[in-house]
Amino acid sequence: MSKTCRVIQWATGSVGREAMRGILNHPALDLAGVYVHSAEKAGRDAGDLCGAPATGVLATNDVAAVLATEADCVVYAPRTAALEEVCALLRSGKNVVCTPFLFHRRPQDPLESEQIEDACREGGCSLHGTGIHPGFAGMIQPLVLAGMSRRIDHIRIEERADWSFYDSPRITFDCMRFGHAPEEATLEANDFARFNAELFEQQIWMLSDALGAEIDDVRIEQALTLAPESRDVRAGRLEAGTVSGQRYTWRGVRGDRVRIEIEAFWTLGGFYPASWPVPRDGWTVSVEGDPSFQTHYMSLASLGAREATLDDHVQAASVATAMQAVNSIPALCAAEPGWRSSIDLGFVASPAAFGPATG
Ligand SMILES: NC(=O)c1ccc[n+]([C@@H]2O[C@H](COP(=O)([O-])OP(=O)(O)OC[C@H]3O[C@@H](n4cnc5c(N)ncnc54)[C@H](OP(=O)(O)O)[C@@H]3O)[C@@H](O)[C@H]2O)c1
Repeated sequence: MSKTCRVIQWATGSVGREAMRGILNHPALDLAGVYVHSAEKAGRDAGDLCGAPATGVLATNDVAAVLATEADCVVYAPRTAALEEVCALLRSGKNVVCTPFLFHRRPQDPLESEQIEDACREGGCSLHGTGIHPGFAGMIQPLVLAGMSRRIDHIRIEERADWSFYDSPRITFDCMRFGHAPEEATLEANDFARFNAELFEQQIWMLSDALGAEIDDVRIEQALTLAPESRDVRAGRLEAGTVSGQRYTWRGVRGDRVRIEIEAFWTLGGFYPASWPVPRDGWTVSVEGDPSFQTHYMSLASLGAREATLDDHVQAASVATAMQAVNSIPALCAAEPGWRSSIDLGFVASPAAFGPATG
């Protein structure tokens, strides 16, 4: 396979580092540039930033230089995402695959869709939002199962995650407001939770558009539970009486009938509320119809064949997110200009995942 796409990596955090390694290993991709948010990383070699041999590609924190770099695609993976940045990249003629947001258009956001489509038209390129979830679990996996369906009555996606092992105080406590008083963590009080909830909602609109469910609304519910006692977790200390459980339900309805549903059961400190359903850890996708299907998956560093630390297992979700994005690039670069979802890009494979044959 010849190298066809020149790719810029935007941000080199947990996901971005894995994406860079993925780009460097991919037979159809060349690393063309690296944008870093932090000044300390500017000027460093991309290989050095992701634990790979030197590449000769140096990181920059100069946005104008990134926009001026000739490239086919940008993997956009910053902690704080901005629509203006994505649109500027699109207008500069670069396709963008992004992990933080923009998974699918919601009818409530016509201006956002318009801005994106205008930028795509101007640059002659495409945008795709993906990851492990949002991404694979809530959009790709249900679509793949739906391909075996004669009729679908109902789709349900469940995510169960214990945040105790996740080492990000900023996301866990500051953004998601675990460890806060419940009135500070409601959807009304917490802008981040609302932004996050809209991302999961986008998946429901995507499935509805792709599968003709013709939903007319997505209803979001949130339930909070409190820690019965104090406990130390990776990200810090969870105090008794503060938020230790957040359950979100997104229901895509047509009239009063729920057609597509996502539920997230997120806990901290290992306190799992007795009143909640108990899906398995990870992601469970159920399609009720003719016929009906159910799959369950987890992301782990290894199923047992290799030694792996807890950190390796936690990092596996970032690897999965990065690779879903990286492996989408060839199809995205070949797509018609516009905001593209998985149904447009088709099946995403990992062409060099087995590596070179040995013996
Ligand atoms: N769709 C999914 O399934 C999925 C899964 C995981 C993560 N995500 C999203 O993907 C993005 C990357 O995740 P991550 O775990 O790699 O995040 P991260 O490690 O917290 O941060 C990523 C990078 O963002 C840059 N950054 C730091 N502060 C910033 C700021 N104030 N504004 C803009 N950029 C800033 C830094 O880049 P430099 O180090 O290069 O300076 C940082 O390393 C996040 O938005 C996350 O929510 C999506």
